[in-house]
Amino acid sequence: MMAAVQLLLLMVGCMAASARRPRDVPPCQVVQSQVFCSDLSLSAVPVPLPHGVQLLDLSRNRVQNLTRETLAFHTGLQHLDLHSNRIRFIQPGLFGTMSQLRVLDLSRNRLSVFAQSGQSVGALASVQSLDLSHNGLFTGMSDSFLADSPALQNLSLEGNSITRISRTTFSGSLALRRISLRDNVVLEIEDGAFDSLDQLTDLDLSRNSISCITDFNLYSLERLNLSRNSVERFHSAPAGVFRLLALDLSQNNMLYFPVLPENNVLEHLDVSHNRLQSVNASGSPDREPSRVFNRLRVLDLSFNRLRDLPQCFFYCMALLRVLNVSHNCVPAFSVSDPDVLARVRTVDLSFNALRSLAFGEDALQRLEDLFLQGNQLRTVDQNLFQRLSGLRYLQLDQNRLEVCATEQNRRTGPEPSGCVSLSSVRNLHFLYLSGNHLRTLPADAFSHTPLQLLDLSQNPGLDLHADSLRGLETSLVHLLLRENDLSSLSTDLSALRGLRHVDLSTNRLSRLPAWTRESGIESLNLQNNSLVTLEPSTMAALERSLKTLYVGSNPLRCCDSLGVVRLVRRAAVRVPDIEAVTCRHRDRPDPLSLRRVTEDMCRAPRLPGYLAAALLALLAAALALGLLVKCCRARRHKGSRSFSA
Ligand SMILES: *[C@@H]1O[C@H](CO)[C@@H](O)[C@H](O)[C@H]1NC(C)=O
Ligand SMILES: *[C@@H]1O[C@H](CO)[C@@H](O)[C@H](O)[C@H]1NC(C)=O
Ligand SMILES: *[C@@H]1O[C@H](CO)[C@@H](O)[C@H](O)[C@H]1NC(C)=O
Ligand SMILES: *[C@@H]1O[C@H](CO)[C@@H](O)[C@H](O)[C@H]1NC(C)=O
Ligand SMILES: *[C@@H]1O[C@H](CO)[C@@H](O)[C@H](O)[C@H]1NC(C)=O
Ligand SMILES: *[C@@H]1O[C@H](CO)[C@@H](O)[C@H](O)[C@H]1NC(C)=O
Repeated sequence: MMAAVQLLLLMVGCMAASARRPRDVPPCQVVQSQVFCSDLSLSAVPVPLPHGVQLLDLSRNRVQNLTRETLAFHTGLQHLDLHSNRIRFIQPGLFGTMSQLRVLDLSRNRLSVFAQSGQSVGALASVQSLDLSHNGLFTGMSDSFLADSPALQNLSLEGNSITRISRTTFSGSLALRRISLRDNVVLEIEDGAFDSLDQLTDLDLSRNSISCITDFNLYSLERLNLSRNSVERFHSAPAGVFRLLALDLSQNNMLYFPVLPENNVLEHLDVSHNRLQSVNASGSPDREPSRVFNRLRVLDLSFNRLRDLPQCFFYCMALLRVLNVSHNCVPAFSVSDPDVLARVRTVDLSFNALRSLAFGEDALQRLEDLFLQGNQLRTVDQNLFQRLSGLRYLQLDQNRLEVCATEQNRRTGPEPSGCVSLSSVRNLHFLYLSGNHLRTLPADAFSHTPLQLLDLSQNPGLDLHADSLRGLETSLVHLLLRENDLSSLSTDLSALRGLRHVDLSTNRLSRLPAWTRESGIESLNLQNNSLVTLEPSTMAALERSLKTLYVGSNPLRCCDSLGVVRLVRRAAVRVPDIEAVTCRHRDRPDPLSLRRVTEDMCRAPRLPGYLAAALLALLAAALALGLLVKCCRARRHKGSRSFSA
């Protein structure tokens, strides 16, 4: 009954609120000469507005007919935002009266209805930026807006249904610099469609259906985006001075490398996600065009089907800094010439079929980041990494490498074969070796290599030598040993004085190595091990620095883990997986949330408190009774005496 009454009251309240809304429309916000009326369900500008409005934001309303009345006869506007309305009619000549209008946003309306009526908006005399995106416009419909827009620089036609760009499309807007036709269905570009746009620098044709570019001749263009089309070939006109800096051909059907004239100034080239099988620019060796990219800095060839990456391909790419060949089928990569890729900083060869990797004595001296994960490397050219004097970051996950012993340690053992030496890599700070089926890590494996991060995860059965990490005492900050099936850790982690982040999750550790000195560890992941307790000495060593501890999914014993309980209670330590931290208590059948453990639960059994209290009370009572009896007797004596008197 009570609930029903409350519900009724609530409903009445809601009805009152909704009834009120239309009447008190919050007024537009006026900030000097700028008026903001977004999202107010308006079909026209509310009057009165101050004179001299320069910016009017009427976006997200219900404007259908855009007329002088709708805009309350404001003609001094410089910036008019009408996106996300329902405009299907524009009074012809409306914008002709706005001689200062520079930015006009008509995106997300229904302008195809207007365009279909065959009317023209008339002149957009001063408009520099026009947004017509998402209006359902078909081929030719943009003509209604572009026929007379001599000042137009930025034009967006994104998200329409345009299939063809004709020679007349932009003939009334010759000042255009940036055009976006992204996300249309452009199939055809008529010869010369962009020719008269001398100032065009940016053209976005991504997400269309263009299949071939031959005789590309947009000399003024600086950025061209053809991503996500069906381009199979890209050929520029053979001569001329191109200004093209960035060309995005990603996600197409390119079979051959794009062809540009020799004197191009291209800096970024993205041919990723295509069907390149070789870096050749044509199908036949005798018609192979020259391949000069003297200014190229970034080349992305990832996600193709390359089987070969010859050194000669890079002869005319002297400035290349980033080379991405990830996700191809390259079986071997070698650079012997010190002049080839001499400036390259980043090379990504991840997820190929690499078995062989060889670099010459002075090759790749500027290389800093090398990605080799997901290959089939068992061994590499001897001292390969030692020779890369700039190498900082080395990603070797998911290969089949073994780590060699250092040379001094090796003298006693057999000659190394099928291993990679990782000591004395002078600048290497980040090293990833997870998923290599590593079996052992010899002593001093990384000596004289200043590692900050070492990832040895997912090498189940890895046998860490007690001195494997010797030499990393001051440098190592991150150590990852996830999923290694470790049942104990013989390495003394407390010797690594710089260590701050340790991941030991998903192993079989039943105890932690003793920390022999105070540690600086800030985050420690012990999830999913076989720990029944964390030794008090360990907790004491960790307590000062620890900020984050993961310890869920361990068979902890509640009363042996009071140190952890205390640590968890300290606000200074975060336990993100606290929900999964449970422990077993001898009096309870099911695991208990560690949060609910109290010290009292773990006191040794003894006389329960209430019994003791009762006993004490009894004793007191007996004493009192005794006293009373004695006292009474004395009185009776006295009394009888007086009575008798
Ligand atoms: C918009 O204009 C058309 C014709 O120009 C008219 O038929 C229609 O009623 C108008 N709609 C509104 C909401 O004013
Ligand atoms: C045109 O677009 C560019 C890049 O987005 C921008 O910097 C510039 O201000 C725009 N010009 C106008 C007139 O809106
Ligand atoms: C090219 O267009 C695609 C899709 O529209 C976009 O994701 C990409 O960032 C663009 N490329 C450049 C270089 O701007
Ligand atoms: C690429 O061109 C070279 C010569 O320029 C030729 O030897 C090789 O067979 C070509 N590769 C393919 C796949 O066409
Ligand atoms: C190389 O390309 C892949 C796929 O596009 C990307 O995931 C990776 O981050 C790129 N590598 C570098 C070093 O940028
Ligand atoms: C916990 O470790 C076991 C093996 O030790 C593994 O099978 C399981 O997937 C791990 N669970 C989680 C959540 O990582």
